Amino acid sequence: MRTLSFLVVAGVLVLTANKATAQVEPIKVIELKRTEPVLYDKDIEPIFVKKCLYCHSGNVKEGKFDMGTYESLMKGGKRGKAIIPGNSKKSLLVQLAGKTKSPRMPPRKEKPLTPEELALIKLWIDQGAKAPTGVRVRPKPVLTLLPSNINPVRSLAISPDNSAVVAGRANQIHVYDAGSGAYIRSLVNPELKTPDNKPIQGAHMAIVEALAYSPDSKYLASGSFQEVIIWDAQTGTIKHKLTGFADRVVALAFSPDGKLLATGGGPPTENGEVKVFEVATGKLVTDIKDPTNGHSDQVFGVCFSPDSKMIASCGADKFVKIFEIPSGKFIKALEGHTHHVLDVGWRFDGKVLASCGADNVIKVWDFEKGEQTRTINTGFSKQITRLMFVGKSSDVLACSGDGTAKMFNVDRGNAVRTFTGAKDFLYAIGSDATGKVIATGGEEGLVRVYNGANGQLLKTLAPPGAEPEKDKK
Ligand code: HEC
Repeated sequence: MRTLSFLVVAGVLVLTANKATAQVEPIKVIELKRTEPVLYDKDIEPIFVKKCLYCHSGNVKEGKFDMGTYESLMKGGKRGKAIIPGNSKKSLLVQLAGKTKSPRMPPRKEKPLTPEELALIKLWIDQGAKAPTGVRVRPKPVLTLLPSNINPVRSLAISPDNSAVVAGRANQIHVYDAGSGAYIRSLVNPELKTPDNKPIQGAHMAIVEALAYSPDSKYLASGSFQEVIIWDAQTGTIKHKLTGFADRVVALAFSPDGKLLATGGGPPTENGEVKVFEVATGKLVTDIKDPTNGHSDQVFGVCFSPDSKMIASCGADKFVKIFEIPSGKFIKALEGHTHHVLDVGWRFDGKVLASCGADNVIKVWDFEKGEQTRTINTGFSKQITRLMFVGKSSDVLACSGDGTAKMFNVDRGNAVRTFTGAKDFLYAIGSDATGKVIATGGEEGLVRVYNGANGQLLKTLAPPGAEPEKDKK
């Protein structure tokens, strides 16, 4: 059972969706020309609600720091007091949220404070960090999520048989017919309820971070905050609900034999999580959290070897790591990326892996030797958010925060095709089993469907109910 504050937060999560920016720069320091007192409830609390509370209140209290009330805020967390009234410079909260000290808050993927917000918090602390005046102007709880037409596409998948395209927007999963582009339905978890027992029309409580189809197109897996659902793709009903995750699940992959599902995620700045489940029973079969050989930070990508006997995972610790399944035995690490590794793929013959990340390059690896064979200079100007091999080929698809998607040949290291049209950050890319149909999704909330053979834009899929804009095909 979720608490009310978590529900409030589920709405807010949507606003704060933002992919990792690799470089950590301190928030700009500005002076506010303000003489009247800064009020906790009017000025400060709304900032915390928007940018901090979903990790620091209710049933999630990261760093043992509960920012849900003024009293708990002033008490501080596991490092002690976070606010020293009258001294913003020495206040841990200002140092972490100003990104001058680690662990920087909010972590990586989340929207940072604006210079104005930081300045306001500093001024409030320097004015004595005074308690609320009693007049509560807390914003109304958002119990249902924002209209889906303003939400970015954070995840997408194309069924291997190329019949359907699914897109994750906020907590919703929208299913489209891949041929006609028609919206078919949204997947709904009937158990989702507000505290006063009203149904919530959504797939999860929080953002749908990852989507993957089983190789036979029968099942669809969706990953969200502390939860994965395996759906029957034909009927749209829930087959299994997987729990036991410490944080968001941002990566999903079915094994090529269809029997297993791998998940990746974990809390930022803590040990990464890689788990493997049996699709038939929903049983956890492998849980990789060995602190010496597992990932020391959040995991962003997972994939299986073609024989379904190993998985590769990658994450914020800059490593690609390979483990045996189901034993979970560590096999090897591939080292070379200079920033977060955001995704990894394994070629059909098992000999080659490719990985991409916040260093804007794709690295190609020889599995046997455990060595890098090539760095593809991709031409992307921002991080490469997702990557996948296309069917039984040496082509990898990749999409970037710079709004472009490309296909590269890993043997030759050249770009084969470019998929254009997106005007903002791309979070997701998908392909059917043979690379005939390719799709991208991102900040604009649109899915663009392309002809994989020539890169031609075929359709733009808007959220259900939203009118497609004129200039978009
Ligand atoms: C996505 C989740 C998330 C968000 C959003 C977030 N934090 Fe945190 N916060 C964490 C985690 C995880 C830790 C523990 C990190 C550690 O101990 O290394 C933490 C720890 C902290 C601490 C240190 C507490 C202690 O005593 O150790 C402070 C202060 C803090 N956060 C402030 C903030 C502020 C201010 C915001 C909003 C601007 C914010 N956080 C938003 C996840 C989050």
